[in-house]
Amino acid sequence: MAQDWEIEDFIDVRDGRLHVDGVDMSDLVREHRTPLFVFSESRIRHNIDRLKRAADVIACPLKVCYAAKAMSTMAILRAVKDAGADIEVNSGGELWKALEIGFRGDQIIFNGTSKEIGELEMAIDADIYAIQVDSLYELSLIEETAQKLGKRANVSLRLVPEIESGTHSGLQTALLTSKFGMMPDEAFAAFRNYRNSPHLNLCGVHLHIGSQNPDPDVYTEALKTLFESLVRVSRETGISLKHINLGGGFPVNYLRDDSNVGDIAEDKAALFQSEFDAADAIGRAWSVIEEVAAATDSKDLLAHLTLLVEPGRSIIADAGICLTTVRNKKVRPISGSTEEFDHWLLTDAGFNILLSMETYKWYYHLISADRPVAAHVHRYKVAGPLCDGGDVYFDIEGENRLPDHRLLPENVLPGEVLALLNCGAYSLAQASQYNGRFLPAVVLIRADGSPELIRKRDSFDDLIANDIY
Ligand SMILES: Cc1ncc(COP(=O)(O)O)c(C=O)c1O
Repeated sequence: MAQDWEIEDFIDVRDGRLHVDGVDMSDLVREHRTPLFVFSESRIRHNIDRLKRAADVIACPLKVCYAAKAMSTMAILRAVKDAGADIEVNSGGELWKALEIGFRGDQIIFNGTSKEIGELEMAIDADIYAIQVDSLYELSLIEETAQKLGKRANVSLRLVPEIESGTHSGLQTALLTSKFGMMPDEAFAAFRNYRNSPHLNLCGVHLHIGSQNPDPDVYTEALKTLFESLVRVSRETGISLKHINLGGGFPVNYLRDDSNVGDIAEDKAALFQSEFDAADAIGRAWSVIEEVAAATDSKDLLAHLTLLVEPGRSIIADAGICLTTVRNKKVRPISGSTEEFDHWLLTDAGFNILLSMETYKWYYHLISADRPVAAHVHRYKVAGPLCDGGDVYFDIEGENRLPDHRLLPENVLPGEVLALLNCGAYSLAQASQYNGRFLPAVVLIRADGSPELIRKRDSFDDLIANDIY
């Protein structure tokens, strides 16, 4: 019988061993050691195709811009590009990487709260599709920079329209209490003041309501807000904006296997367990803005529109797993008891490569990669290798965001390889060499089923590459 976490034609069990796209994970571990990230190019393509289905339910072109911040190892960016997506970048570094991999300027949008002049120059030089402007000050800087370069910059303004989503507070990004974007009135003033600028092409409005937002109605509200803004801009300034950008945040089901669900607070589990069809949500939102267009006599604005989305995790999260080896074990009495004991397992994958597990207490389902079909009913305290008490795979703050214990087969011993699933997003992208730990190797299983090393494991030299001593 298939395990609940299995996904047909992608991640499954063959001959009792864990496979991704038909490749035996034990073979990869033997060759590359652990921790090891493994990604699937087919799954990336599948996820992009799934998002692109939204184009069939809206009456305008759709531009899917992969949020590079989720994972930007070069071969992954190339896989995303080859799968037909465009790209959203957040820094000069990500912009450079996108250009280096071959994204054209018109495939790139550039977000961020603190852009430097050098970064703006790069973006304007490359004629990117849109610089998404975070403040009035930044808009003046972009105009000045474009003027200096003798160019015209494409800009869209990022709004914070006070839309609350159901996600984690650190991932709420459309509220005034967040650090992002401009108040709608500021943006309207900007459109009015800059409408005749020869150095600015005011082409869109943007918002991002937050990451892993499970409520489709929030996207409807967001799209409606964006379209109403477009109508108001057109009425008050005569500018016909060419795109609206709904942001990213489409959720991923991290709890496909819900065996741990009883140990997680209900609202948190609901966040991690979301079954969400972005195309469906966008289709519903689109029908609402068609109503707004009819009611405000602005169907002509809809007719010339492009809809942008900038998903990260819904493209890359479930396309990546992290393989880790148990390196140590211990048995300890449960506090206050002399008869009950916790069985501890210490792995080689810490929050230096899975930061969200510490910061947001993010749930990544854990299985034994060596014994994937054995009954996962034994409770273990699992922790990473870092010299930091927060480097654990369970709840320590009483929030029940993570389970108290992880469920694995009986008698797991040092040497057994485990797999954390759905951890392709915001993992390696946020990794550090904390505690002198190497950044891991990454393998991409190509669409033809062949595994390819796309990032070497660090060496001692990498730990000191930029030190001067
Ligand atoms: C502006 C913006 N766009 C897109 C994303 C991507 O979000 P997700 O990976 O949840 O799709 C983020 C993530 O924080 C973001 O801040």
